[in-house]
Amino acid sequence: MRLHINIDHVATIRQARRTDEPDPVRAAVLAELGGADGITVHLREDRRHIQDRDVRLLLETVRTSVNLELAAASDVVAMACTLKPAEATLVPERREEVTTEGGLALDTASARQRVETAVRALRAAGIRTSLFIGPDEAAIRASEALGADAIELHTGEFAEAWKRRASAQGRQEIAREAERLRRAAALAASLDLDVHAGHGLTYENVAAVARIPEIEELNIGHSVVSRAVLVGLERAVREMADAIQRARGGSAPGE
Ligand code: PXP
Repeated sequence: MRLHINIDHVATIRQARRTDEPDPVRAAVLAELGGADGITVHLREDRRHIQDRDVRLLLETVRTSVNLELAAASDVVAMACTLKPAEATLVPERREEVTTEGGLALDTASARQRVETAVRALRAAGIRTSLFIGPDEAAIRASEALGADAIELHTGEFAEAWKRRASAQGRQEIAREAERLRRAAALAASLDLDVHAGHGLTYENVAAVARIPEIEELNIGHSVVSRAVLVGLERAVREMADAIQRARGGSAPGE
């Protein structure tokens, strides 16, 4: 099981001030030192967090592997084909959404055509291509037909059910959603698709998904970056207090 860390939120903090910190490239190095098997970033069409420069530098810096999430739109697909990440994941994208809200819609001929064009271009550039889809049989079979190497199962509905775990009904929903993921993973693997999963996974709910044997890769962002803020804040405050104390001519504690 590979753990890919999605570092979009690091770029979101930087973009809040349009400045140069925190740098997602530095965050990627630290994630790798922590044991990440890969780094995932989403180059959104509106560039709200990750920028072109980030993708270029990540591809030069990351020693594990970069998974570039992108919409099936011609300009970002062309950019991916030039930059050649090891892996690309096609995701649906709507400008008004806060995060990727659902899997790719593959239920109309025009949607399938758009995705197929992108899959062809990415694979022709030598990029392993994955489709972010709901745990539904039709979407899995469509992904195989479109020539994808892998699928990423959207775990958002499972994660939403997890929030209701205090009630008996919530626990039933969790069991139902976990079973959907298990069946979807088994079907995809039987079709020779590599199986990834992600969205909304947390330190508490990850076990149920990590237990599914066919899933080879998890993409996790929000929960890990959230924890990083909390476990890192105390040290960050201490370092600022030390800098101030030094400026006043005193020595920082420990010097
Ligand atoms: N996988 C995909 C395709 C995503 O779009 C996202 C969110 O950017 C994730 C995984 C990670 O989700 P989360 O930030 O909730 O862990």
